Amino acid sequence: MSTHKEIKKITTHTLHKMKEQGEKIAMITAYDYSFARLFDAVGIDVILVGDSASNVMAGHETTLPITLDQMIYHAASVIRAVTRSLVVVDLPFGTYQSNPKEALASAIRIMKETGAHAIKLEGGSEVVESVKKIVAAGIPVMGHLGLTPQSIYQFGTYNVRAKEEAEATKLKTDALLLQEAGCFGIVLEKIPAELAAAVSKSLHIPTIGIGAGSECNGQVLVMHDLLGINNTFKPRFLRQYLNLEELVSNAVKQYISDVKSVDFPNQSEQY
Ligand code: KIV
Repeated sequence: MSTHKEIKKITTHTLHKMKEQGEKIAMITAYDYSFARLFDAVGIDVILVGDSASNVMAGHETTLPITLDQMIYHAASVIRAVTRSLVVVDLPFGTYQSNPKEALASAIRIMKETGAHAIKLEGGSEVVESVKKIVAAGIPVMGHLGLTPQSIYQFGTYNVRAKEEAEATKLKTDALLLQEAGCFGIVLEKIPAELAAAVSKSLHIPTIGIGAGSECNGQVLVMHDLLGINNTFKPRFLRQYLNLEELVSNAVKQYISDVKSVDFPNQSEQY
């Protein structure tokens, strides 16, 4: 299958074409220069500077504490590494929910201070006016429906969302509203595969799934989960491609041992 690897820069238009042509979109999170450089170099389509940085970079229990300044720091680091991927940055909790004017101001700060290509925000009908305002300013917006972690205290758990008819119906309506408002794509997190498939078919913009089955137009994973940096997190939807926790632990244990035994540095490792 041909891919868009040969394309110089991925844009929101590239993603639309990929959906039209049936090519799946591969998206991963990144929060720093070094990993973003590796992901961009191997042909990842989209890099998400997710507010999951709050969990995996800062060690918070939820995504709520991370600030706009902190997201800008992560996003600017990622952007310095990227030559080809589309970089999307999360608007953190508390920087867009009050009103569309606040949402636009936050989105503008991200675009101006990081050089990112798009922003993402969580929610459906509640954020539609904000999406319209941001899009009208020329900023591409990605939506996020289903399990929206910024609402964790309302949900109470990280369980699968929209299993009941009423929530599934609202999600379908919200997806159409976000598309009408100008979103270029929507993340669908932890919803039944059948519902995600129906939503994906009903839209002309691409859907990117995480725990939402194979019928989404693309997939996203948090880099720490995909690389196995924390082996205690193993949700059903995750495919772990590496056991980095084990590899790093073994490497650093060996280093400690080599330092203690004066095996390191040896003759060829000194001046
Ligand atoms: O913040 C994040 O990493 C995300 C993904 C889980 C989609 O929003």
